[in-house]
Amino acid sequence: MLHSNISVNEQGHLTFAGQDTVELAERFGTALYLLDEDRVRENCRKYTETMKRCFPEGSGPLYASKALCFKRLYKTLMEEDMSVDVVSGGELRTALAAGFPAERIYFHGNNKTVEEIHYAMDSGIGYFIVDNYDELHEISYYAREKGVKQKILLRLTVGIDPHTFEAVNTGKIDCQFGTAVETGQAIELVGDVLRTGGVELDGFHCHIGSQIFEWTPFRDAAVIMLDFMSEVYEEFGYKTRVLNMGGGFGVRYTEEDPHVDIPDSIERLAEFMRDECAKRSLTMPIVLMEPGRSIVADAGMTIYTAGGVKTIKDHKSYVAVDGGMADNPRYALYQSPYTAINAQRANDPADFLCTLAGRCCESGALIQENIMLARPNRGEKIAVFVTGAYNYSMASNYNRFCRPPLVMLHGGEAELAIRRETFEDMIACDL
Ligand SMILES: Cc1ncc(COP(=O)(O)O)c(C=O)c1O
Repeated sequence: MLHSNISVNEQGHLTFAGQDTVELAERFGTALYLLDEDRVRENCRKYTETMKRCFPEGSGPLYASKALCFKRLYKTLMEEDMSVDVVSGGELRTALAAGFPAERIYFHGNNKTVEEIHYAMDSGIGYFIVDNYDELHEISYYAREKGVKQKILLRLTVGIDPHTFEAVNTGKIDCQFGTAVETGQAIELVGDVLRTGGVELDGFHCHIGSQIFEWTPFRDAAVIMLDFMSEVYEEFGYKTRVLNMGGGFGVRYTEEDPHVDIPDSIERLAEFMRDECAKRSLTMPIVLMEPGRSIVADAGMTIYTAGGVKTIKDHKSYVAVDGGMADNPRYALYQSPYTAINAQRANDPADFLCTLAGRCCESGALIQENIMLARPNRGEKIAVFVTGAYNYSMASNYNRFCRPPLVMLHGGEAELAIRRETFEDMIACDL
Protein backbone atom coordinates (compact mmCIF):
# COMPACT_ATOMS: atom_id res chain seq x y z
CA MET A 1 0.00 0.00 0.00
CA LEU A 2 0.99 3.65 -0.45
CA HIS A 3 2.16 4.09 3.17
CA SER A 4 3.18 1.58 5.83
CA ASN A 5 0.22 2.48 8.11
CA ILE A 6 -2.26 1.22 5.46
CA SER A 7 -3.04 -2.49 5.06
CA VAL A 8 -5.84 -5.04 4.52
CA ASN A 9 -7.19 -7.54 7.11
CA GLU A 10 -8.58 -11.09 6.73
CA GLN A 11 -12.07 -9.77 5.93
CA GLY A 12 -10.61 -7.85 3.02
CA HIS A 13 -11.27 -4.58 4.85
CA LEU A 14 -8.82 -1.73 4.63
CA THR A 15 -6.98 -1.06 7.87
CA PHE A 16 -5.38 2.21 8.97
CA ALA A 17 -2.95 2.36 11.89
CA GLY A 18 -3.89 -1.30 12.46
CA GLN A 19 -7.65 -0.61 12.80
CA ASP A 20 -10.50 -1.77 10.56
CA THR A 21 -11.71 1.30 8.65
CA VAL A 22 -15.13 -0.24 7.91
CA GLU A 23 -15.74 -0.83 11.63
CA LEU A 24 -14.57 2.71 12.43
CA ALA A 25 -16.97 4.07 9.78
CA GLU A 26 -19.84 2.08 11.30
CA ARG A 27 -18.98 3.27 14.81
CA PHE A 28 -18.44 7.00 14.07
CA GLY A 29 -20.44 7.46 10.84
CA THR A 30 -19.22 8.96 7.56
CA ALA A 31 -17.79 11.19 6.23
CA LEU A 32 -15.04 10.57 8.79
CA TYR A 33 -11.49 11.88 9.19
CA LEU A 34 -8.98 9.50 10.79
CA LEU A 35 -5.61 10.55 12.17
CA ASP A 36 -2.82 8.09 13.03
CA GLU A 37 -1.17 9.63 16.08
CA ASP A 38 1.87 7.35 15.97
CA ARG A 39 2.57 8.50 12.42
CA VAL A 40 2.30 12.15 13.51
CA ARG A 41 4.90 11.42 16.21
CA GLU A 42 7.19 9.60 13.78
CA ASN A 43 7.00 12.52 11.36
CA CYS A 44 7.77 15.04 14.13
CA ARG A 45 10.85 13.03 15.16
CA LYS A 46 12.27 13.08 11.63
CA TYR A 47 12.64 16.83 12.15
CA THR A 48 13.32 17.14 15.91
CA GLU A 49 16.01 14.47 16.05
CA THR A 50 17.78 15.47 12.83
CA MET A 51 17.69 19.20 13.46
CA LYS A 52 18.97 18.74 17.00
CA ARG A 53 21.87 16.70 15.65
CA CYS A 54 22.76 18.86 12.66
CA PHE A 55 22.13 22.47 13.64
CA PRO A 56 23.18 24.66 16.61
CA GLU A 57 21.39 24.41 19.95
CA GLY A 58 17.93 25.97 19.87
CA SER A 59 17.26 24.77 16.31
CA GLY A 60 14.12 22.76 15.60
CA PRO A 61 10.82 22.50 13.75
CA LEU A 62 7.72 24.67 14.19
CA TYR A 63 4.60 22.79 13.14
CA ALA A 64 2.61 24.88 10.64
CA SER A 65 -0.86 24.85 12.22
CA LYS A 66 -2.56 25.74 8.94
CA ALA A 67 -2.13 22.12 7.80
CA LEU A 68 -4.39 20.80 10.56
CA CYS A 69 -5.48 22.58 13.69
CA PHE A 70 -7.49 21.25 16.63
CA LYS A 71 -6.88 21.16 20.36
CA ARG A 72 -5.97 17.51 20.87
CA LEU A 73 -3.23 17.66 18.23
CA TYR A 74 -1.30 20.26 20.24
CA LYS A 75 -0.96 17.78 23.13
CA THR A 76 0.88 15.37 20.80
CA LEU A 77 3.01 18.21 19.43
CA MET A 78 3.92 19.34 22.95
CA GLU A 79 4.95 15.82 23.90
CA GLU A 80 7.10 15.68 20.77
CA ASP A 81 8.91 18.88 21.72
CA MET A 82 7.62 20.79 18.72
CA SER A 83 7.10 24.54 18.58
CA VAL A 84 4.28 25.82 16.35
CA ASP A 85 3.43 28.59 13.97
CA VAL A 86 -0.03 30.11 13.71
CA VAL A 87 -1.44 32.52 11.15
CA SER A 88 -4.59 33.78 12.82
CA GLY A 89 -6.23 34.58 16.12
CA GLY A 90 -8.24 31.37 15.64
CA GLU A 91 -5.19 29.11 15.35
CA LEU A 92 -3.55 30.96 18.24
CA ARG A 93 -6.60 30.56 20.49
CA THR A 94 -6.79 26.84 19.66
CA ALA A 95 -3.13 26.30 20.60
CA LEU A 96 -3.50 28.30 23.82
CA ALA A 97 -6.78 26.58 24.72
CA ALA A 98 -4.90 23.29 24.42
CA GLY A 99 -2.33 24.56 26.95
CA PHE A 100 0.44 24.98 24.38
CA PRO A 101 3.19 27.19 25.86
CA ALA A 102 2.82 30.72 24.43
CA GLU A 103 6.57 31.27 24.23
CA ARG A 104 6.84 28.40 21.73
CA ILE A 105 4.32 29.99 19.36
CA TYR A 106 5.33 32.03 16.28
CA PHE A 107 2.70 34.31 14.77
CA HIS A 108 2.74 34.42 10.95
CA GLY A 109 0.40 35.97 8.38
CA ASN A 110 0.49 38.80 5.88
CA ASN A 111 -2.28 40.87 7.47
CA LYS A 112 -2.47 40.47 11.21
CA THR A 113 -5.23 42.62 12.64
CA VAL A 114 -4.67 45.06 15.50
CA GLU A 115 -6.81 42.83 17.74
CA GLU A 116 -4.73 39.78 16.84
CA ILE A 117 -1.48 41.63 17.52
CA HIS A 118 -2.73 42.80 20.92
CA TYR A 119 -4.14 39.42 21.87
CA ALA A 120 -0.94 37.62 20.84
CA MET A 121 1.29 40.01 22.74
CA ASP A 122 -0.97 39.98 25.81
CA SER A 123 -0.77 36.18 25.71
CA GLY A 124 3.04 36.33 25.71
CA ILE A 125 3.71 34.60 22.38
CA GLY A 126 7.36 33.98 21.53
CA TYR A 127 7.72 35.65 18.16
CA PHE A 128 5.93 37.60 15.49
CA ILE A 129 7.08 36.79 11.97
CA VAL A 130 6.69 40.26 10.55
CA ASP A 131 5.46 40.51 6.98
CA ASN A 132 5.77 44.19 6.17
CA TYR A 133 6.49 47.74 7.29
CA ASP A 134 2.95 48.65 8.42
CA GLU A 135 2.73 45.61 10.62
CA LEU A 136 6.14 46.32 12.14
CA HIS A 137 4.88 49.70 13.31
CA GLU A 138 1.69 48.28 14.77
CA ILE A 139 3.70 45.72 16.78
CA SER A 140 6.30 48.28 17.85
CA TYR A 141 3.62 50.76 18.95
CA TYR A 142 1.82 48.25 21.18
CA ALA A 143 5.09 46.82 22.59
CA ARG A 144 6.22 50.33 23.60
CA GLU A 145 2.82 51.01 25.15
CA LYS A 146 3.17 47.82 27.19
CA GLY A 147 6.81 48.52 27.97
CA VAL A 148 8.04 45.22 26.53
CA LYS A 149 10.53 44.17 23.85
CA GLN A 150 8.77 41.87 21.40
CA LYS A 151 10.95 39.35 19.57
CA ILE A 152 10.45 39.27 15.83
CA LEU A 153 11.70 37.60 12.67
CA LEU A 154 11.25 39.28 9.28
CA ARG A 155 9.60 37.31 6.49
CA LEU A 156 11.59 37.76 3.30
CA THR A 157 10.78 36.69 -0.25
CA VAL A 158 13.67 35.00 -1.96
CA GLY A 159 12.11 34.75 -5.43
CA ILE A 160 13.02 31.19 -6.35
CA ASP A 161 10.83 28.68 -8.12
CA PRO A 162 10.70 25.31 -6.34
CA HIS A 163 8.76 23.74 -9.27
CA THR A 164 5.58 23.00 -7.40
CA PHE A 165 1.91 23.88 -8.02
CA GLU A 166 1.39 27.57 -8.70
CA ALA A 167 -1.14 27.85 -5.84
CA VAL A 168 1.36 26.60 -3.24
CA ASN A 169 4.40 28.39 -4.66
CA THR A 170 4.51 31.14 -2.06
CA GLY A 171 8.14 32.29 -2.29
CA LYS A 172 7.91 34.09 -5.63
CA ILE A 173 8.97 37.71 -5.72
CA ASP A 174 5.52 39.02 -6.66
CA CYS A 175 3.52 36.96 -4.16
CA GLN A 176 1.60 38.67 -1.35
CA PHE A 177 3.80 37.30 1.45
CA GLY A 178 6.88 38.91 2.93
CA THR A 179 9.28 41.59 1.74
CA ALA A 180 11.45 41.06 -1.33
CA VAL A 181 15.23 40.67 -1.05
CA GLU A 182 15.87 41.30 -4.75
CA THR A 183 14.20 44.73 -4.89
CA GLY A 184 16.27 46.11 -1.98
CA GLN A 185 13.14 46.52 0.15
CA ALA A 186 14.17 43.81 2.61
CA ILE A 187 17.44 45.54 3.54
CA GLU A 188 15.56 48.84 3.90
CA LEU A 189 13.12 47.12 6.25
CA VAL A 190 16.00 45.83 8.38
CA GLY A 191 17.23 49.42 8.71
CA ASP A 192 13.72 50.44 9.84
CA VAL A 193 13.53 47.62 12.36
CA LEU A 194 16.90 48.47 13.88
CA ARG A 195 15.76 52.08 14.36
CA THR A 196 12.37 51.05 15.79
CA GLY A 197 11.75 50.69 19.51
CA GLY A 198 9.77 47.95 21.21
CA VAL A 199 11.01 45.13 18.99
CA GLU A 200 14.05 42.88 19.03
CA LEU A 201 15.08 41.50 15.66
CA ASP A 202 16.25 37.91 16.08
CA GLY A 203 16.56 36.99 12.44
CA PHE A 204 14.88 36.16 9.16
CA HIS A 205 12.36 33.80 7.61
CA CYS A 206 11.66 32.55 4.11
CA HIS A 207 9.22 30.01 2.71
CA ILE A 208 9.61 28.91 -0.89
CA GLY A 209 6.48 26.80 -1.40
CA SER A 210 4.90 23.47 -0.66
CA GLN A 211 5.01 19.86 -1.91
CA ILE A 212 8.76 20.08 -2.69
CA PHE A 213 10.45 16.72 -3.29
CA GLU A 214 14.11 17.73 -3.39
CA TRP A 215 16.45 19.46 -0.98
CA THR A 216 18.02 21.63 -3.69
CA PRO A 217 15.38 24.45 -3.67
CA PHE A 218 16.12 24.82 0.08
CA ARG A 219 19.82 25.00 -0.76
CA ASP A 220 19.13 27.78 -3.29
CA ALA A 221 17.02 29.68 -0.76
CA ALA A 222 19.77 29.26 1.86
CA VAL A 223 22.33 30.88 -0.47
CA ILE A 224 20.13 33.95 -0.86
CA MET A 225 19.43 34.15 2.87
CA LEU A 226 23.10 33.74 3.84
CA ASP A 227 24.11 36.40 1.32
CA PHE A 228 21.46 38.62 2.86
CA MET A 229 22.82 37.94 6.36
CA SER A 230 26.29 39.00 5.15
CA GLU A 231 24.88 42.14 3.58
CA VAL A 232 23.02 43.03 6.75
CA TYR A 233 26.21 42.53 8.77
CA GLU A 234 28.24 44.75 6.44
CA GLU A 235 25.59 47.46 6.33
CA PHE A 236 24.50 47.54 9.98
CA GLY A 237 26.95 45.32 11.89
CA TYR A 238 23.89 43.19 12.73
CA LYS A 239 24.55 39.48 13.43
CA THR A 240 21.64 37.18 12.55
CA ARG A 241 20.86 34.73 15.34
CA VAL A 242 17.93 32.81 13.82
CA LEU A 243 17.20 31.66 10.27
CA ASN A 244 13.81 30.11 9.59
CA MET A 245 13.78 28.16 6.31
CA GLY A 246 9.99 27.66 6.17
CA GLY A 247 8.07 24.48 5.36
CA GLY A 248 7.40 22.59 2.21
CA PHE A 249 8.76 19.02 2.04
CA GLY A 250 6.44 16.96 -0.17
CA VAL A 251 4.41 13.87 0.64
CA ARG A 252 3.28 10.91 -1.46
CA TYR A 253 -0.36 11.19 -2.47
CA THR A 254 -0.05 8.56 -5.20
CA GLU A 255 2.35 5.79 -6.21
CA GLU A 256 3.80 8.15 -8.85
CA ASP A 257 4.99 10.67 -6.24
CA PRO A 258 8.62 10.28 -5.20
CA HIS A 259 9.63 9.51 -1.62
CA VAL A 260 11.47 12.28 0.25
CA ASP A 261 14.05 11.20 2.81
CA ILE A 262 13.54 14.13 5.19
CA PRO A 263 16.40 13.41 7.64
CA ASP A 264 18.81 12.96 4.74
CA SER A 265 17.63 16.20 3.07
CA ILE A 266 18.03 18.13 6.34
CA GLU A 267 21.51 16.66 6.87
CA ARG A 268 22.56 17.77 3.38
CA LEU A 269 21.15 21.22 3.94
CA ALA A 270 22.96 21.53 7.27
CA GLU A 271 26.27 20.46 5.79
CA PHE A 272 25.86 22.88 2.90
CA MET A 273 24.93 25.74 5.22
CA ARG A 274 27.92 25.10 7.50
CA ASP A 275 30.29 25.36 4.52
CA GLU A 276 28.55 28.45 3.16
CA CYS A 277 28.61 30.16 6.57
CA ALA A 278 32.34 29.44 6.84
CA LYS A 279 32.94 30.91 3.35
CA ARG A 280 31.21 34.12 4.45
CA SER A 281 32.76 34.17 7.95
CA LEU A 282 29.25 33.95 9.43
CA THR A 283 28.38 32.14 12.62
CA MET A 284 25.98 29.31 11.82
CA PRO A 285 22.55 30.57 12.94
CA ILE A 286 19.92 28.70 14.90
CA VAL A 287 17.85 27.08 12.16
CA LEU A 288 14.08 26.66 12.27
CA MET A 289 11.81 24.90 9.78
CA GLU A 290 8.02 24.99 9.47
CA PRO A 291 6.72 21.62 8.29
CA GLY A 292 2.95 21.24 8.02
CA ARG A 293 2.00 18.74 5.33
CA SER A 294 4.91 16.37 6.03
CA ILE A 295 3.84 16.08 9.70
CA VAL A 296 0.15 15.25 9.27
CA ALA A 297 -0.71 14.39 5.63
CA ASP A 298 0.13 10.68 5.58
CA ALA A 299 -1.24 10.37 9.13
CA GLY A 300 -4.70 11.12 7.74
CA MET A 301 -7.37 9.22 5.84
CA THR A 302 -11.01 10.04 5.02
CA ILE A 303 -13.74 7.40 4.93
CA TYR A 304 -16.94 8.00 2.97
CA THR A 305 -20.00 5.93 2.15
CA ALA A 306 -20.78 5.35 -1.51
CA GLY A 307 -24.20 6.53 -2.63
CA GLY A 308 -25.26 6.34 -6.25
CA VAL A 309 -23.04 4.77 -8.90
CA LYS A 310 -24.00 5.87 -12.38
CA THR A 311 -22.65 5.44 -15.86
CA ILE A 312 -23.38 8.01 -18.52
CA LYS A 313 -23.64 5.78 -21.56
CA ASP A 314 -20.61 6.09 -23.87
CA HIS A 315 -19.09 8.71 -21.55
CA LYS A 316 -18.05 8.15 -17.97
CA SER A 317 -19.02 6.67 -14.63
CA TYR A 318 -19.45 8.44 -11.33
CA VAL A 319 -19.34 7.18 -7.77
CA ALA A 320 -20.96 9.73 -5.47
CA VAL A 321 -19.93 9.81 -1.81
CA ASP A 322 -21.32 11.54 1.28
CA GLY A 323 -18.70 14.29 1.35
CA GLY A 324 -16.52 16.09 -1.14
CA MET A 325 -15.47 19.65 -1.72
CA ALA A 326 -16.76 20.81 1.68
CA ASP A 327 -14.46 18.41 3.58
CA ASN A 328 -11.67 18.24 0.97
CA PRO A 329 -11.51 21.21 -1.40
CA ARG A 330 -8.04 20.42 -2.75
CA TYR A 331 -9.10 18.81 -6.03
CA ALA A 332 -11.52 21.65 -6.73
CA LEU A 333 -8.82 24.20 -5.86
CA TYR A 334 -5.85 22.81 -7.72
CA GLN A 335 -6.61 19.33 -9.02
CA SER A 336 -4.61 17.62 -6.28
CA PRO A 337 -4.01 13.95 -6.96
CA TYR A 338 -5.30 11.40 -4.44
CA THR A 339 -5.42 7.63 -4.08
CA ALA A 340 -8.78 6.04 -3.24
CA ILE A 341 -9.92 2.48 -2.62
CA ASN A 342 -13.08 0.50 -1.91
CA ALA A 343 -12.34 0.00 1.80
CA GLN A 344 -14.87 -2.82 2.13
CA ARG A 345 -13.33 -4.95 -0.62
CA ALA A 346 -9.76 -3.77 -0.51
CA ASN A 347 -8.36 -6.98 -2.04
CA ASP A 348 -10.79 -7.01 -4.99
CA PRO A 349 -9.41 -5.97 -8.37
CA ALA A 350 -9.73 -2.25 -9.00
CA ASP A 351 -11.27 -2.61 -12.46
CA PHE A 352 -13.97 0.07 -12.55
CA LEU A 353 -12.90 3.36 -14.13
CA CYS A 354 -14.80 6.16 -12.43
CA THR A 355 -14.79 9.68 -11.11
CA LEU A 356 -15.24 10.10 -7.38
CA ALA A 357 -17.75 12.88 -6.94
CA GLY A 358 -18.81 14.65 -3.82
CA ARG A 359 -22.26 16.09 -3.27
CA CYS A 360 -21.61 19.82 -3.49
CA CYS A 361 -23.38 21.74 -6.24
CA GLU A 362 -20.41 22.54 -8.47
CA SER A 363 -19.41 20.50 -11.51
CA GLY A 364 -15.80 20.78 -10.31
CA ALA A 365 -16.65 19.52 -6.82
CA LEU A 366 -14.88 16.21 -7.33
CA ILE A 367 -12.51 14.27 -5.12
CA GLN A 368 -10.68 12.61 -7.99
CA GLU A 369 -11.25 12.02 -11.68
CA ASN A 370 -10.63 8.84 -13.66
CA ILE A 371 -9.51 6.45 -10.96
CA MET A 372 -9.80 2.68 -10.74
CA LEU A 373 -11.93 1.19 -7.94
CA ALA A 374 -13.51 -2.16 -7.18
CA ARG A 375 -17.04 -1.16 -8.33
CA PRO A 376 -18.78 -0.09 -5.11
CA ASN A 377 -22.31 -1.04 -4.15
CA ARG A 378 -24.42 1.61 -2.49
CA GLY A 379 -23.50 1.73 1.21
CA GLU A 380 -19.93 0.43 0.82
CA LYS A 381 -17.12 2.44 2.35
CA ILE A 382 -14.62 4.35 0.22
CA ALA A 383 -11.29 5.50 1.65
CA VAL A 384 -9.25 8.44 0.37
CA PHE A 385 -5.62 8.31 1.49
CA VAL A 386 -3.28 11.02 2.77
CA THR A 387 -5.90 13.55 3.78
CA GLY A 388 -4.33 14.69 7.07
CA ALA A 389 -3.15 18.06 5.73
CA TYR A 390 -5.26 20.89 4.32
CA ASN A 391 -8.50 18.91 4.47
CA TYR A 392 -10.16 19.50 7.85
CA SER A 393 -8.35 22.84 8.10
CA MET A 394 -9.77 23.91 4.72
CA ALA A 395 -13.24 22.43 5.25
CA SER A 396 -16.28 24.64 4.85
CA ASN A 397 -20.04 24.55 5.31
CA TYR A 398 -20.69 24.99 1.61
CA ASN A 399 -24.22 23.80 0.84
CA ARG A 400 -24.62 23.71 4.64
CA PHE A 401 -22.98 20.35 5.05
CA CYS A 402 -21.83 19.62 8.60
CA ARG A 403 -18.09 19.17 9.02
CA PRO A 404 -17.09 15.53 9.72
CA PRO A 405 -15.64 14.38 13.03
CA LEU A 406 -11.97 13.51 13.46
CA VAL A 407 -10.90 10.35 15.27
CA MET A 408 -7.33 9.89 16.56
CA LEU A 409 -5.99 6.34 16.35
CA HIS A 410 -3.30 5.20 18.74
CA GLY A 411 -2.28 1.89 20.29
CA GLY A 412 -5.40 0.13 18.99
CA GLU A 413 -7.68 2.81 20.51
CA ALA A 414 -9.93 5.23 18.64
CA GLU A 415 -10.48 8.55 20.37
CA LEU A 416 -12.99 11.13 19.14
CA ALA A 417 -10.96 14.36 19.00
CA ILE A 418 -13.39 16.56 17.04
CA ARG A 419 -17.09 15.75 17.21
CA ARG A 420 -19.31 15.90 14.15
CA GLU A 421 -20.72 19.36 13.58
CA THR A 422 -24.48 19.54 14.10
CA PHE A 423 -27.14 21.54 12.30
CA GLU A 424 -27.54 23.47 15.55
CA ASP A 425 -23.83 24.42 15.41
CA MET A 426 -24.31 25.59 11.86
CA ILE A 427 -27.25 27.89 12.50
CA ALA A 428 -25.89 29.12 15.84
CA CYS A 429 -24.59 32.35 14.29
CA ASP A 430 -27.74 33.06 12.28
CA LEU A 431 -29.83 35.75 14.01
C1 LIG B 1 4.96 30.41 5.79
C2 LIG B 1 4.63 28.97 5.69
N1 LIG B 1 5.27 28.12 6.49
C3 LIG B 1 4.99 26.79 6.44
C4 LIG B 1 4.05 26.29 5.58
C5 LIG B 1 3.78 24.82 5.59
O1 LIG B 1 4.09 24.23 4.39
P1 LIG B 1 3.96 22.65 4.21
O2 LIG B 1 2.62 22.29 4.73
O3 LIG B 1 4.08 22.42 2.76
O4 LIG B 1 5.07 22.04 5.00
C6 LIG B 1 3.38 27.15 4.72
C7 LIG B 1 2.38 26.63 3.78
O5 LIG B 1 1.76 27.29 3.02
C8 LIG B 1 3.67 28.54 4.78
O6 LIG B 1 3.05 29.41 3.99
